[in-house]
Amino acid sequence: MKILLSSVIVPHPDIEEKIIEKVNYDFVFVPNEDEETFLEEIKSADAIVTADKKIDADMIDSMTNCKVIVRQGIGFDSIDIAKAKQKGIYVCNVPDYSVEEVSEFTVALLLMLARHLNVYAEHVRKGIWDIQSVYDIAGYCPMRRSSTQTLGIVGFGKIARLVAKKAKPFGFKIISFDPYVSKEVADSMNVELVSLDTLLENSDFITINAPLTEETFHIIDKEAFKKMKKTAYLINTARGPHVCEEDLYEALKGKVIAGAAIDVTETEPLPKNHKLLSLENLIITPHAAFFTKDSFEELRKKAMEEAIRVLDGKAPLNCVNK
Ligand SMILES: NC(=O)c1ccc[n+]([C@@H]2O[C@H](COP(=O)([O-])OP(=O)(O)OC[C@H]3O[C@@H](n4cnc5c(N)ncnc54)[C@H](O)[C@@H]3O)[C@@H](O)[C@H]2O)c1
Repeated sequence: MKILLSSVIVPHPDIEEKIIEKVNYDFVFVPNEDEETFLEEIKSADAIVTADKKIDADMIDSMTNCKVIVRQGIGFDSIDIAKAKQKGIYVCNVPDYSVEEVSEFTVALLLMLARHLNVYAEHVRKGIWDIQSVYDIAGYCPMRRSSTQTLGIVGFGKIARLVAKKAKPFGFKIISFDPYVSKEVADSMNVELVSLDTLLENSDFITINAPLTEETFHIIDKEAFKKMKKTAYLINTARGPHVCEEDLYEALKGKVIAGAAIDVTETEPLPKNHKLLSLENLIITPHAAFFTKDSFEELRKKAMEEAIRVLDGKAPLNCVNK
């Protein structure tokens, strides 16, 4: 049986070759830009592994042997999963390759906001050597020790739980809104489950770590900002459309909340000259939370192992079109 790999994140398939050496399957690597060969090879491949290839109904129709398509990543909108299901082809993803990274990045943004590291660093670069330079005009010191602060987490899944575990030792009280998680799970981590309103009203820092669904689209909007403390900070490392960007701009400009840090935006990349870029109380990073050498290596390894698992006749770990 044959495994086909063609992927923008694999310039050279060294990691995959090491895994395939141990099993008895043929392996074909097609450089990502060679679309013509890819279209030819999918016809006879038994397993296909890719990060970015759009796999539509016509392509799936042309597959004669395929048993599994593995997407190297979390999202799978690039693949026609219904068509694949019709043909009895599993579509699988790798949902957990970057939970360490995203949780760490979230906590890094939390501490950066809490201690105004970005502001101090910028001030020193401009020649301002003054610990009080982060005070607001009313002479208010915006920094508190973590043990006086409440962190509110929207969603309490894999990433959120690691955020809680990593933030806890700093002393934060942690509350979470997740209608699908049991009290037992939250209790076991010393996290209090609360309503969204209670979270918005009581948190000093709010981080969004829920999936993007109809329910969570614009979960943070004008009304939500109004419920938040004036001193609160918002962190979004989930998906841009969780936050209504227009309302975020108004809330930050009008000092409805103190500040925000976002790794994701409604449009990515954020267009040059976008008005969010003009805000001093907003940190923006380029959807980078998931990215380390280790997360990419784990992603490539897990994707290839999933393909082999299915060819071995075992059930896939992460099928998205059951
Ligand atoms: N910035 C990045 O690089 C990056 C990388 C990976 C994942 N992410 C984002 O992080 C999100 C969370 O990932 P995860 O691995 O923790 O997912 P997960 O599936 O393990 O957890 C999601 C949690 O959100 C909860 N949830 C669902 N609907 C909700 C709602 N309406 N309100 C509150 N909670 C709700 C679920 O019950 C679940 O507990 C992903 O969906 C993705 O959008 C971002």
